[in-house]
Amino acid sequence: MPEPMRDELQVQHRTAVLVAVVESSRKLDRDQVLDELKGLVKTAGVTVVGELVQMRAKPHPSTCLGKGKIEELKSLVEATGAELVIFDNNLSPAQGRELEREVDRVIVDRSELILDIFATHARTFEAKLQVELAQLMYTRTRLKRMWTHLERIDGGIGAGRGPGEKQIEIDRRLIGTRISELKRRISEIEVRRERMVRQRESHALVSLVGYTNAGKSTLMNALTGSDVYVADQLFATLDTRTRKWRVPGWGDVLLSDTVGFVRDLPHQLVASFKSTLEEARQADLLLHVVDASNPEAEEQAETVEKVLEEIGVEIRNFVLVLNKSDAVKDREIVDVLRAKYACSVTVSAVTGEGFDQLAAIVAERLGNGFVDVEVETSAGNGKLFAYLAEHSEILDRQYTDSRVTLTCRLPRPLLWRIQGEDTEVRVTERLSVVK
Ligand code: GTP
Repeated sequence: MPEPMRDELQVQHRTAVLVAVVESSRKLDRDQVLDELKGLVKTAGVTVVGELVQMRAKPHPSTCLGKGKIEELKSLVEATGAELVIFDNNLSPAQGRELEREVDRVIVDRSELILDIFATHARTFEAKLQVELAQLMYTRTRLKRMWTHLERIDGGIGAGRGPGEKQIEIDRRLIGTRISELKRRISEIEVRRERMVRQRESHALVSLVGYTNAGKSTLMNALTGSDVYVADQLFATLDTRTRKWRVPGWGDVLLSDTVGFVRDLPHQLVASFKSTLEEARQADLLLHVVDASNPEAEEQAETVEKVLEEIGVEIRNFVLVLNKSDAVKDREIVDVLRAKYACSVTVSAVTGEGFDQLAAIVAERLGNGFVDVEVETSAGNGKLFAYLAEHSEILDRQYTDSRVTLTCRLPRPLLWRIQGEDTEVRVTERLSVVK
């Protein structure tokens, strides 16, 4: 019995014709239309053998492409021998079925492509579970089409009515059970992760967010001296990573790198990646990294904001970081974004330009508010007592055996100075940390 999984749909090492149906209202040059899709398919390991773009007021309801363009697509597919047709658009299950019937090739839409890339790039156990869940949720509504894929690839799946009607029922049940199992395991991990993030309360948390390929990992490496995976590929980062960054004039903060965003992110993926973005949700400050050398920088920034909103990240405190200043050709993009966002800074993660200014803004944004903390340490830690007596207001003091717990209020930037092997610091309240 063939498994109802998506292996058959994996696009790596296949040849494809790329298709985009662009609503005329999107202000794009024909040349730029396929730029992002090309980036996605390159990451997915597909060889492009043909391209087709149609500008339309609206995609055709049953086939996305208009009738005449479908004929053109058929000829292109024939002439190039392409195995797949990859759409930059998201297709409804019915549109996908209809196109496959017309063109007689496997049709892959934008969401399927992104899911495929995520599946190949997920490295940690959690990311793998999340991607599998997203894939199954997507597949569930498209089982009929899946079977058409299988028939096409395997030369038919045997006798029976329609494309494996009975099989579809069995698959639906199997998928349902697997989905429940995955959800349960993911929610266990989520609880653990939330606990972990909370335990880091004594440090300020700064999160890098941004469109895929904006340069988040490169910036993180440059700022923290760490070695996070950087590749000229989309979604090189699928799991959050956190490193310590010493911000001059403020102290240590935890800097976390997060998964890159894209427009029209498959809905299932947004939902299941919520926990990967837990760091962003808990962050004191978000650094929204934008590739300022990209002609679509403004739209990309808007997409990121939209996705953040969708996954419930409140953007109360953020800085727009206009990256790749060394590669900017069109200054106007930078000017427009700087005028639009009150708090922005221009940097180059490669040359280090703008880092001082970025650090100054981060320090200012984290603010000089106060925090209430409980500091538990050994009774003999005279150095720490002296420091706290000088820099904080001590509100209470409790002794148990050889340990002392001090309750005090201190300026937030000094938090990191009181950390130590023998000392545990618990933040009980933040007072006006965020401006
Ligand atoms: P995802 O993991 O997809 O979210 O990407 P990312 O935002 O982490 O981007 P990454 O740091 O992997 O960088 C993407 C590409 O942009 C790499 O080829 C980097 O070398 C390049 N890049 C990053 N920052 C700069 C910069 O300041 N200037 C230039 N010229 N290239 C940069």
